[in-house]
Amino acid sequence: MYRQLAVLVPGGHGQLGSDLAARAGEVALLRAPGSGEFDVTEPASVDRGVASFVDDAVKAGLRPVVVNAAAYTAVDAAETAPDRAYAVNARGAGTVARTAAAYGVPMVHVSTDYVFPGDSDRPYRPEDQTAPKSVYGKSKLAGEREVLDAGDLTWVVRTAWVYGASGANFVKTMVKLERRHETVSVVDDQRGSPTWSADLAAGLLDLAAAAVRTEPPVRRVLHCTGGGETTWYGFARAVFSELGADPERVRSCSTADFPRPAPRPAYSVLSGEAWREAGLTPLRGWREALAAAFSASGDAFRE
Ligand SMILES: NC(=O)c1ccc[n+]([C@@H]2O[C@H](COP(=O)([O-])OP(=O)(O)OC[C@H]3O[C@@H](n4cnc5c(N)ncnc54)[C@H](OP(=O)(O)O)[C@@H]3O)[C@@H](O)[C@H]2O)c1
Repeated sequence: MYRQLAVLVPGGHGQLGSDLAARAGEVALLRAPGSGEFDVTEPASVDRGVASFVDDAVKAGLRPVVVNAAAYTAVDAAETAPDRAYAVNARGAGTVARTAAAYGVPMVHVSTDYVFPGDSDRPYRPEDQTAPKSVYGKSKLAGEREVLDAGDLTWVVRTAWVYGASGANFVKTMVKLERRHETVSVVDDQRGSPTWSADLAAGLLDLAAAAVRTEPPVRRVLHCTGGGETTWYGFARAVFSELGADPERVRSCSTADFPRPAPRPAYSVLSGEAWREAGLTPLRGWREALAAAFSASGDAFRE
């Protein structure tokens, strides 16, 4: 499908990175190094990785693009480890973007709904005012700015509520809790859009394929999540249904009942309008995607 495309995925062993790597069969060349091989906080490591990737892509007559899935994603731990969060999410993202730009390679960078304050009453558009509440959100916003400043073929794609077969996530947590407890309390006052990382990976590859055909200058922010919206409570009930468990065992509670070190946005639904206007296919509805995820990777969620 993407026969001319060469894709480098820093953070290739993460949740999203693994689902991008899983699509290697569709791409002429796909490299998805982990942080040991390609450390975004080490400029020499980034330069080495990008240089050898571009070299191989050019020799094979392919069009290279970087899709950055590397991030420090420990949202609560970031509150007391801001240096680490900024090193990876801000300066690291900037280093990858500047290196890609130096080699004339377009860059797609993944960011988050946590850049918004969460007080909107309609889905956030890319151009809406950002005001992150957490260290993680602030470090990701700083990364967006570094990336957009770095080169003239750069895309920032904000996503939200990501779950996949690899890594720890909400779906896996609910699966564990369902096994251990008769009832489970889940917050019902935070709204967002669950996003299956496999669907997101497919969307990002579509964008990557468009990026290598685009003439500079382009510096764009887009939003890409699963379709529709729910609360964590609604999401948990759907997970229980997929497990064949009674969703009534999920009880609703409020954020105040579950204080966490990092504040979460109460409302983080992202508008996919700009994504559609860019000619990209919207991801399917979150509920349909969850069913597909259980069909494809049910064992991984139950591990
Ligand atoms: N998960 C969500 O709900 C969510 C929501 C919105 C946006 N996002 C964004 O989506 C993207 C992918 O997230 P994810 O869920 O796939 O996160 P993840 O599973 O935590 O993966 C992130 C990857 O980044 C790597 N990484 C960390 N430090 C690095 C470094 N110094 N150099 C290179 N790689 C490094 C990690 O590798 P090591 O573990 O080996 O260090 C890890 O494999 C991120 O940009 C994240 O901010 C995620």
